[in-house]
Amino acid sequence: MNEVLLDLSQKCRTWLETYPGPAGRQKIAAHLEELLINQDAVNNLVPLTAGERDLLYQDPDLGFCILAHNYPGPKTAPPHDHGPSWAIYAQVRGETEMREYDLVQQATADTPGKVSVNKTYQMRPGDAYVYDEGVLHAPTRTEPTSLLRIEGTDMTQVKRMKYEQI
Ligand SMILES: [Fe+2]
Repeated sequence: MNEVLLDLSQKCRTWLETYPGPAGRQKIAAHLEELLINQDAVNNLVPLTAGERDLLYQDPDLGFCILAHNYPGPKTAPPHDHGPSWAIYAQVRGETEMREYDLVQQATADTPGKVSVNKTYQMRPGDAYVYDEGVLHAPTRTEPTSLLRIEGTDMTQVKRMKYEQI
């Protein structure tokens, strides 16, 4: 593991253990906003050779994951939350238009939930946002983008509910 990633992973561990819940995540996001305006750190963590979802680090005790994402073209996702987990999105290159939603109708196992937009904003390089458990959001990217994300757990192992914007 390179030094930049080692340092970031250790800071995440310390803050998540010292400040459980949203407070620790906000400390990580604030740190990422400083770190990711440093081009050496950016190129180290999310080089242009990164894939669409590269797992850089998973903490053996706390379970959080540090991920690099490099999207060479447009990339959108439907409204979603991260189930029992939280996520931090940090923009590294390009821009993401992020929407957040109010829940209008709960999702069930076989029926998508209904959501309505409550805010829309642009994420630009150096911007980092925390999405706590249950916060519904959807990113739209019309041009190539890169981002760093930190998730509370490995979301590839979690079944997600579907939601539709009304
Ligand atoms: Fe997400």
